[in-house]
Amino acid sequence: MTEMRLFTNQLSGPLPLTLSNLTNLVLVLLADNQLTGHLPDLCQSKKLQDFQIFDNNLDGPVPKGLRDCSSLISLGIDKNQIEGDITKSFGVYPHLNDISLSSNKFVGRLSPKWGLCQNLTSIDFGHNMIEGSIPSDLGELKNLAILDMRFNRLTSEIPPEIGKLSSLYWMDLGSNRLSGQIPKQIGQLSNLEILDFSSNLLSGKIPEEIGNCLKLQSLHMNNNSLSESLPGSLGHLASLQSMLDLSMNSLSGPIPSELSKLEMLMFVNFSHNQFSGGIPISIASMQSITVFDVSYNFLEGSVPNGIHNASAEWFLHNKGLCGNLVGLSPCDLQLADHRRKHQKIILPVGLPMLVATISIVAGVVALLICRKKASKSTDDVSKGGVFSVWSFDGRMAFEDIMNATENFDEKHCIGEGSYGSVYKAELQDEQVVAVKKLHAGDEEAHDEEIFQHEIEMLTKVRQRSIVKLYGYCSHPRYRFLVCQFIERGNLASILSNEELASQFRWERRIALIRDVAQAITYLHHDVHPPIIHRDITSRNILLDVDYKAFVSDFGIARMLKPDSSNWSALAGTYGYIAPECSYTSLVTEKCDVYSFGIVVLEVLMGKHPGDLQAFHSSLEDQFLLEEILDERLPQPEAGEEEVRRCISVAFECLTPSPKERPTMLKVYRDLSI
Ligand SMILES: *[C@@H]1O[C@H](CO)[C@@H](O)[C@H](O)[C@H]1NC(C)=O
Ligand SMILES: *[C@@H]1O[C@H](CO)[C@@H](O)[C@H](O)[C@H]1NC(C)=O
Ligand SMILES: *[C@@H]1O[C@H](CO)[C@@H](O)[C@H](O)[C@H]1NC(C)=O
Repeated sequence: MTEMRLFTNQLSGPLPLTLSNLTNLVLVLLADNQLTGHLPDLCQSKKLQDFQIFDNNLDGPVPKGLRDCSSLISLGIDKNQIEGDITKSFGVYPHLNDISLSSNKFVGRLSPKWGLCQNLTSIDFGHNMIEGSIPSDLGELKNLAILDMRFNRLTSEIPPEIGKLSSLYWMDLGSNRLSGQIPKQIGQLSNLEILDFSSNLLSGKIPEEIGNCLKLQSLHMNNNSLSESLPGSLGHLASLQSMLDLSMNSLSGPIPSELSKLEMLMFVNFSHNQFSGGIPISIASMQSITVFDVSYNFLEGSVPNGIHNASAEWFLHNKGLCGNLVGLSPCDLQLADHRRKHQKIILPVGLPMLVATISIVAGVVALLICRKKASKSTDDVSKGGVFSVWSFDGRMAFEDIMNATENFDEKHCIGEGSYGSVYKAELQDEQVVAVKKLHAGDEEAHDEEIFQHEIEMLTKVRQRSIVKLYGYCSHPRYRFLVCQFIERGNLASILSNEELASQFRWERRIALIRDVAQAITYLHHDVHPPIIHRDITSRNILLDVDYKAFVSDFGIARMLKPDSSNWSALAGTYGYIAPECSYTSLVTEKCDVYSFGIVVLEVLMGKHPGDLQAFHSSLEDQFLLEEILDERLPQPEAGEEEVRRCISVAFECLTPSPKERPTMLKVYRDLSI
């Protein structure tokens, strides 16, 4: 026997010792079972190349045979309880392509010998207890694309040789004890897309050179001791999209106005630093901004008008910021205050000024009293247990929603989801929201707390192509979620409508596929802990008037108990579930990848691909595009290349083995070439 594929079953107990007698094994896939006992030695005759036994309950040390298994190409023993000194447990593997040891109990230091595994593209050692410094020899790994060392106990400085990792696109060294300055060689990482140095002991200046990492999409350096002013070169990072988190440092000086050049950036957190001066007016021009938190700094002056979605909380606890937002002191009041302090100089015009000041103050006080009253009534409601999590701007109230939907009258119902009905609600302030009324559940009180915590987390998720969840309401009779309202409805209904489908042109479809890929990538790779959607289908992808995609209902599936009448097999919708996900309760990110593959085919074909087995074999090697593409559109001409790429990515997503299925990050990259 050369190959053994038993992954994703319910095998339990220890592996038989006689397995070691199989001396011709090349490939062993035992991942995702409930195996216990020690790791077997399957490499006595140095033929083993691919060994995946992640997601089990194995413990004990790494057998000597594996240490000396120089034939290895891919090793995945992550998510077990394997222990031992990492230096002594592993040798040199000249052919090794990827290795994952994450979420085990390895101790000890990183050996410089890893630098000899020249073919390595991916190192995942996260969530262990590895200590000591990062060896400079790692810089020799010219093919390394992923370096994940998060949640260990690494100390010392980040070696400058890290700049030699020219293929690196993902570096996560978060939650360690790294100290010293960030090496300026970081600027040589021209392929870097995701960088996380958060929660370490790094100090000194953020190097100017970071501005050379032109592909950077997400940057976490929060919770360190970084100081001095921010380099204006941050403004060069035009790809920066999901995150710029520099909170909890000692950064000072002004907020550079160059920041406003980052047109795609959605999330900025500069809170808990020592920034001073004013907020550049140009910040208001950043269209994608959904969070711009500069609270707990020494900023002063006025908050520029028109910052997208601005919330007063982002500006609190500063030296003196004023502005038009509810909760901030208005600027004219501060101005008046300021003038009063300089009374002597303006005494000649003092009297009318004083009258004006008094009337302004009186006006504001009256306003505040009114506000207080208004918010008090909301408070009363919340004391009655109606509101549970409410991250919206406070203007909305339970009554408002009840009025807008006329107590959930059917005529406001716009659809049925797997766990309830969706209503469209136009609130008093003309804001339109989608309200999802959940089926009356029998959740016990203690579940509610977890549920609320989860919802709170989900309300913090911000990405352009993800439907925003504003909050959640619980009432003895109703439980509902309040979300962003997206005009055109879901992808499935558009594809089944002749007229809409024919307007849904190829470039729009390709853009939708990319946006959805990016949104899922964000949920899997940029959110901690990652969020698995579990129910990616054409019904959960909504389109706005411009046919731009919004993924909805993420993370909800996990929290709601399946409702027997409305819940299709476990979680997820039949026809979209990966093979392994329908048989086990263990759901991983790879389930979403599979469902995404189905959605891609559905978008291109105009209908669900149906029975994949049959579909696959009929298309085996070569196929004619016109045989499968949506006939309601003319054949793509210029876009043919892209359509083909989407199809081949979709097939990769549908790989039966979850381990061999690509990650969403890879999928998104492949789609973005
Ligand atoms: C197989 O392995 C077992 C245990 O290691 C050993 O006792 C036995 O002799 C082996 N059998 C053969 C046929 O080699
Ligand atoms: C390294 O990887 C490349 C490409 O996958 C392969 O062609 C080459 O043989 C590998 N080298 C070794 C030493 O395995
Ligand atoms: C910004 O970061 C601080 C500290 O890390 C955190 O407490 C706060 O919630 C963050 N702001 C937002 C809007 O997420």
